[in-house]
Amino acid sequence: MSSQIVPLVIIGVSVLFILGIKFLSSPKTARLGNLVAAAGMFIALCVLLKTDGTSVWSHGWSFNYTLIVIGTLIGLIIGAIGAYSVKMTSMPQMVALFNGLGGGAAALVASLEFIKGAHGPEIAGIKLPALQAASAFIAGSMLFATLIGSLSFSGSIIAYLKLEGKFEKPHTFPGQNILNGLILLVILGLCGFLTFNASGGNATLAFIVLFCLALFFGVAMVMPIGGADMPVVISLLNSFTGLAVAADGFAINNLAMVVAGTLVGSSGTLLTLLMCKAMNRPVTNVLFGAFGSSGGSAAAAGGVAGTVKPIQADEVALLLAYAQRVVVVPGYGMAVAQAQHSVRELTEELGKRGVEVQFAIHPVAGRMPGHMNVLLAEANVPYDQLVEMEAINPSMDRVDVCLVIGANDVVNPAAREDKSSPIYGMPIIEADRCKTVIVMKRSMAAGFAGIENHLFYKDNTRMLFGDAKASLNALVAQVKAS
Ligand code: TAP
Repeated sequence: MSSQIVPLVIIGVSVLFILGIKFLSSPKTARLGNLVAAAGMFIALCVLLKTDGTSVWSHGWSFNYTLIVIGTLIGLIIGAIGAYSVKMTSMPQMVALFNGLGGGAAALVASLEFIKGAHGPEIAGIKLPALQAASAFIAGSMLFATLIGSLSFSGSIIAYLKLEGKFEKPHTFPGQNILNGLILLVILGLCGFLTFNASGGNATLAFIVLFCLALFFGVAMVMPIGGADMPVVISLLNSFTGLAVAADGFAINNLAMVVAGTLVGSSGTLLTLLMCKAMNRPVTNVLFGAFGSSGGSAAAAGGVAGTVKPIQADEVALLLAYAQRVVVVPGYGMAVAQAQHSVRELTEELGKRGVEVQFAIHPVAGRMPGHMNVLLAEANVPYDQLVEMEAINPSMDRVDVCLVIGANDVVNPAAREDKSSPIYGMPIIEADRCKTVIVMKRSMAAGFAGIENHLFYKDNTRMLFGDAKASLNALVAQVKAS
């Protein structure tokens, strides 16, 4: 492919990436968005650029290209098997793992380019401009990609392990932030030294130390953060990976990588900020606050006024069948129970009886952004029944029955009432303002934040204990029979 056509293809690829992200912003078009962005990535692979701006394929076939094809095929197979076999509840783990691998790959590309540049202009038959001749900007880009990519790799692996429940609690010790700050200073010092001494006598040693410290920093950065905050951390590390890829693009003169990396970097940053806003916590509190260190089991009920009042499925079915307006608040427990199809069946049955049904969607319900939207879309719940928190809260006192299905923290009025609560100030779905609240969960166990829920003790709340799917199936049968 000639070097004149390649820039046009890169512009086309960039447009596909941007359209892909645009389509991903709605559940209706998200699948299409994924396909469009994947097509862009495939085209980008087909016109892989060399540092002289021409496509690698224009130089004929060689062993390197065989390696590229083999690598692509292995990646495709692992990706496809992973995506088909992963459970919906394990999706955040998969995102963490894939993101970590992306960061690691970006770091390896940059490291190889840096070492090649420092030791000579030709390795494995590929001619490169010697780093001595390259600008400090290029060397800086390679170092940036190495640093950010490797910390994103090790941080994502720790995030994955935390989501898997390996060491979920924050691991802190006195002076931890100071130690991390010192490590960061050493890393930045090494980057400064290497930027201007890329081919100096101690450059290779300094580079290896930088690489190892960056890996260690990723671990040290994520270990003190609690499991509940991992989705935010993954989104932040995802934006790091994007920036590392963009820096790689500058270093090896590949515009497609610059565009793709910048898009991932900026969208990851925006998503991180949106999640923090939805939890009413600054990013610094997520990174340095050790949220969740106070415990993961139910806190003692002492101090919360009121009593817990259980209810049976047949009584709930009667309440639902004769209600005018019902609001469903789904949460992580609905995902665990895989109860989305049963919920749709119940709401359809209620709809047939003239009951107005809506779903109240909290932005951080579940364990990843859009978790509830994806599940409900999978079960074919009509999109117009899904209402965002800000839109539904003002009318909650006109709701006859609020069905809280496996949601806990996102409906906890302590966020409004208890200044000492770790979630104080977090916006919640105000289920407690409805005429009757039915909470469906298995026990009195706490949610991810590990704190007692004031809602469970309110006068207008009844607890329907049991697995959400089993309870919903019982409700469907009872409503049909009533
Ligand atoms: P949680 O507060 O985690 O509560 C989930 C509840 O589901 C639990 O109390 C659990 O109680 C119940 N449950 C589990 N399995 C169940 C089953 N099979 N049947 C019925 N109930 C079941 O969930 P939430 O309200 O969705 O809140 C999400 C939390 O994650 C928030 O703290 C949020 O800040 C945090 N978080 C989310 C995100 C994103 S982007 N979504 C990002 C960062 C943090 P039992 O064990 O008693 O059944």
